[in-house]
Amino acid sequence: MKINIAKNAGFCFGVKNAVDTVIKNAKEGKKLFIYGDIIHNQHVIDYLSTLGVKKIDDLNGLHRLKGETAVIRSHGAPPEVYEAFLKEGIEVIDATCPFVKRIHDMVKAAEEKGVAVIIVGEEKHPEVLGIKGWAGDNSYVVYDEQDVDNLPCLESAVLVAQTTTPKSKWLELLPLIKEKVLNLDANMTICETTERRQEEAEKLAKNSDVMIVVGGKNSSNTKRLYDLCKKYCKRTYHIENINETVLENLRRTDIINIIAGASTPDWLIREVFLRMSENENMLVETETVGTEDTVKGEIQAEEMRANEASESEGQSADGQNETLKSSDDSFMEEVEKSFVKIRRGQFVIGTVVQLTDEEAFVNIGYKSDGILTKSEFSVDGSISPKSILNVGDEVEVEIISLNDGQGNVLLSKKRIDARAKWNEFAKDAEEGKGEKEYTCKINKVIKGGLLGKIEGYDTFIPASQTSLKYVEDLKVFLGKELSVVIIEIDKAKKRIVASHRAILKKEEEKKLDELWSRYSKGDQVTGTIKRITDFGAFVDIGGVDALLHIKDISWINIKSPADVLSVGQVITTLILYVDVQRRRISLGLKQLSPKPWDLVEEKYLIGSVIDVKVVRTVPFGAFVELEPGVDGLIHISQIANRRLERAEDEIKVGDIVKVKVMEVDAKKKKISLSRRQLIIEEQEKAPKTEEKHTENEERYEIPPVKEMTVSLGDFFPKNDTEGEE
Ligand code: F3S
Repeated sequence: MKINIAKNAGFCFGVKNAVDTVIKNAKEGKKLFIYGDIIHNQHVIDYLSTLGVKKIDDLNGLHRLKGETAVIRSHGAPPEVYEAFLKEGIEVIDATCPFVKRIHDMVKAAEEKGVAVIIVGEEKHPEVLGIKGWAGDNSYVVYDEQDVDNLPCLESAVLVAQTTTPKSKWLELLPLIKEKVLNLDANMTICETTERRQEEAEKLAKNSDVMIVVGGKNSSNTKRLYDLCKKYCKRTYHIENINETVLENLRRTDIINIIAGASTPDWLIREVFLRMSENENMLVETETVGTEDTVKGEIQAEEMRANEASESEGQSADGQNETLKSSDDSFMEEVEKSFVKIRRGQFVIGTVVQLTDEEAFVNIGYKSDGILTKSEFSVDGSISPKSILNVGDEVEVEIISLNDGQGNVLLSKKRIDARAKWNEFAKDAEEGKGEKEYTCKINKVIKGGLLGKIEGYDTFIPASQTSLKYVEDLKVFLGKELSVVIIEIDKAKKRIVASHRAILKKEEEKKLDELWSRYSKGDQVTGTIKRITDFGAFVDIGGVDALLHIKDISWINIKSPADVLSVGQVITTLILYVDVQRRRISLGLKQLSPKPWDLVEEKYLIGSVIDVKVVRTVPFGAFVELEPGVDGLIHISQIANRRLERAEDEIKVGDIVKVKVMEVDAKKKKISLSRRQLIIEEQEKAPKTEEKHTENEERYEIPPVKEMTVSLGDFFPKNDTEGEE
């Protein structure tokens, strides 16, 4: 939520001047009465009554006010009012706004020349009544087309406008009036203050979610502002005092602008602003309370007075100039004393209004500006406020003293800066552990660690966080600046807990990352075996230890890596897997040699005769080893040329026997061998003799070899072969 006060809000120059004049004279002891309300604001009227200032609404009974002083308000008054006071010997202080006074002079000159006067304005408005009084009987007031229609056709006329007339009204009626007057002397006397205020109101209303118009309900210029704002912003509210401040139905995303009529005192606007800000904890975007109007008005009035002085040199001012200089004892200061409250220890947001090498002056909305001394900007006071702040910057400050001895409010931002810094440290410790690096100057060794400062804040580094290795004597760090990360905020001891180890670890990790990123899956690397365990061997492949797992050492089953490898042995392996984050590399040795079964069809041709070693006998035959990792089967029927009950009847484990290769199937890992075939072939080669069989001899028909083929996979334990794939 953003809340903003319009630049052109609050007292205009003319009103401020009139109010200040009344206060000054009342405080000097004059018995004052004002002809009519000095402004359309009950708060101000009430305040003036506390100073003894009265108000009269008509000229009856003036004799009772003899000896008192009459004040003509900024709207001005017709000449008969002055005459009535003079007649009764009542002193007059004329606080008519110089811009209104100028209109009086214009219309008076016209009246003296017998020229008609046309006034664009509200017929019953006190300012218009005053102008009309000076213009005489040959004058007309118009405010709409109907009024212009009713005008007689005139040969010549002077045209002026009530100072608070909307410019659009003037532009609307001017061409119509021109049609009625042959020689029209048109003087656009609308006060620039009003124009600026209305322009700003329109602009703000177009860009606001909520418009607050502050001012008296009987103030016509405030009502006009309200109507204007309502046209462009549906959620426009007209409030007269702080109790009416709109606090409900506000959304946190609302953009709220506050504007005020020319008769609204600054303190009231500020009170409305503060009430809303405090209530909703809003974000204040801009806070410029009606200063622009007053300053510009003063400049214009000064220029106007200079022109008038040169035109009528020697003529004495009618007291008006004197009243213009009465701002020192201003009403605002008096009122703000009682309404804008600050207290020691309060945090407020102010605007930097002036900067020197030694101090920054901050407008905090109090009667006096606050001062931030140079010492607030650095620990050693070496930094100039000018190098940190700019005029116009908003700055959060703490009220240290309401009076520094010279009438200024003493401010501090150290605690606020410190609070913000602690929040930053805490956030860093919670969210970004190890992310942000700080420098910590070590100044003390204590039991359990080091003490130092980070940006002036007490910091503790536990001994375990000082290095990657154990440090025997922590004094080696004394006086050194260590780069650290915040790991914790020790609220109880109000100190930061930091780690230098984390930085070292980070650097080490970075180096390792670079090192590890050199290795990729599929690379061949040569390394030295550093250590052998039951499950494999660790190989140093250049600063990185990689694991050669037992299953990746050989295609044949080995019981222990130590059976085939030894520490210090240099081997070339294949990188099977790399995990840089988890720092893991797996190596393979067997993968660099072909699988034994891949070559069997080439090596063991069908029909070839080879020597094999019997490794195992089973009820259906005997397994033999052709080479490590490659076994074949001699079916029981193929062991001899006679019927056998058991393989052991003919051969035994460990025998080397000659066999013929009958079938090779590498995919199924099957090799069928026959010893019997060789025996038969040998017998066939020998000279034939008639075979005689005894009656009891058993005749045995041997089936063809192919029908007897047995798969090795059917008899080997599954794991023995699958694990090698
Ligand atoms: Fe004067 Fe303009 Fe205010 S005419 S009273 S300064 S609005």
